[in-house]
Amino acid sequence: MKKIISLILTAALLLTFAACNAAGNGTQSANENTGANTSETESAGTSANETGPAPESAVENTDERGTEPTASDGNKILVVYFSWSGNLDKMAHWVADETGGDLIRITAKEAYPESYNDTADRAKSEQDNGVRPEINVDLTSEQMAQYDTVFFGFPVWWYDLPMPMWTFLESYDWNGKTIIPFFSHEGSSNGASALPTVERLAVGATVRSDDALSIRGGNVASSESAVREWVKGLDD
Ligand SMILES: Cc1cc2nc3c(=O)[nH]c(=O)nc-3n(C[C@H](O)[C@H](O)[C@H](O)COP(=O)(O)O)c2cc1C
Repeated sequence: MKKIISLILTAALLLTFAACNAAGNGTQSANENTGANTSETESAGTSANETGPAPESAVENTDERGTEPTASDGNKILVVYFSWSGNLDKMAHWVADETGGDLIRITAKEAYPESYNDTADRAKSEQDNGVRPEINVDLTSEQMAQYDTVFFGFPVWWYDLPMPMWTFLESYDWNGKTIIPFFSHEGSSNGASALPTVERLAVGATVRSDDALSIRGGNVASSESAVREWVKGLDD
């Protein structure tokens, strides 16, 4: 019964997103508006609730080879991401594998609840009140200085970036860096306000919003090759 109620509430929220999009609430299709790279084979979609939240454990600040990012290892690519229910986790691992970049997962110090509705409520309240949640990210300014290119992955939350990613962007010097966004959504296919927020907060960076990758949450699991092709095509 709890699962059914949960699914109904999730469907209601997704309908709200869809309705807002249809009303032109700043969320037109990526190709029309931002040029964001969409991989959209519309399906019934998988909500965060169906897949369940990813554990908000300690930051994964190593890449798949188990190396800490250091100022001397010569790797100039960072893949940093936030994920609640696992879609960005998948996408970020593919991006890191394809680029050979270091992989870092941002989590909130106070973990988001397992319940979709509780997480949605907290996320809305944080956004409405401009809260910058404390984050787990074991990356010093010196370590950040080694990266020229930062792949930046996030789920759209309430038509914008999740607030922990605001905290992250405001914590570092972005001068001279290139940020390449990739994101997932359940209707806000152009990221709504998220890409402009990245551009605004990452002062001094070149943000490649026109090249951003956008994948609907329900399609992420079958999008490994699309993600890899996107990475390969970035320098064309
Ligand atoms: C709190 C919350 C708010 C969301 N807000 C939006 C939204 O405004 N627009 C949208 O298209 N999807 C929204 N979604 C759906 C997520 O962007 C989508 O499920 C994404 O694939 C989740 O990525 P993740 O599995 O890495 O957390 C929201 C999900 C949550 C949990």
